Amino acid sequence: MRLDKLLSDMGYGSRREVKIVLKRQQVKVNGVFPKSASIHVDPEVDEVLVNGERVVYKPLVYLMMNKPAGVISATEDKRDQTVIDLVDEAFSYYDLHPVGRLDKDTVGLLILTNDGKLSHELLSPKKHVPKTYYAKIDGIVTEEDVNAFDEGINVNDEYTTLPAQLKILKSGELSEIEVTIYEGKYHQVKRMFIARGKEVVYLKRLAMGQLQLDETLEEGMSRELTEEELDLLQNRE
Ligand code: URA
Repeated sequence: MRLDKLLSDMGYGSRREVKIVLKRQQVKVNGVFPKSASIHVDPEVDEVLVNGERVVYKPLVYLMMNKPAGVISATEDKRDQTVIDLVDEAFSYYDLHPVGRLDKDTVGLLILTNDGKLSHELLSPKKHVPKTYYAKIDGIVTEEDVNAFDEGINVNDEYTTLPAQLKILKSGELSEIEVTIYEGKYHQVKRMFIARGKEVVYLKRLAMGQLQLDETLEEGMSRELTEEELDLLQNRE
């Protein structure tokens, strides 16, 4: 594979950034500074060093999962099945982890990756990455709820959430809504509704940042993100 692709896959930056690293003579291939970013290397055979450290080829992998109910968002668990248990064997080599957590009974979009930098950015409380959910609510959701969400909800007198956008899809004894939140606190959506005297009975994540759940992906299934989807996730601003 091309040297710039290898380094870029391994998280040393975009192809353009990798070119700069090469220009600065921070990279050696089999003991010499490569003349071009486009030379071909075999990562299993050739010795590639960045700042004197061997590059062990383990590309970054990004999966989208449609998480089913009943499994937990963790890498391992003594009792329950985890989302990692559901991933195809072919990915077992990559040390994947879920980006954040969905409750055991929550379904929908979950990203799995071995890119610690990206998951850190997506989860950073400072970045306010939007997350959109569809939910069924036991109780009549009203415009007052919409306004209250818009102001931020005081949860259990513990904290007030950031303003959230609530959209009523159907109002009745069993309401249907979409909500976008900008934090990822424990049981956040459920607790916001409890604070309004209502109960979430079904919760599904539809989007994270600009990335939407592929609705053709069956619950329990996962697939690699396309390049366009990865761009959407990375260029969140
Ligand atoms: N909010 C919740 O209450 N649960 C989730 O799984 C995600 C957001």
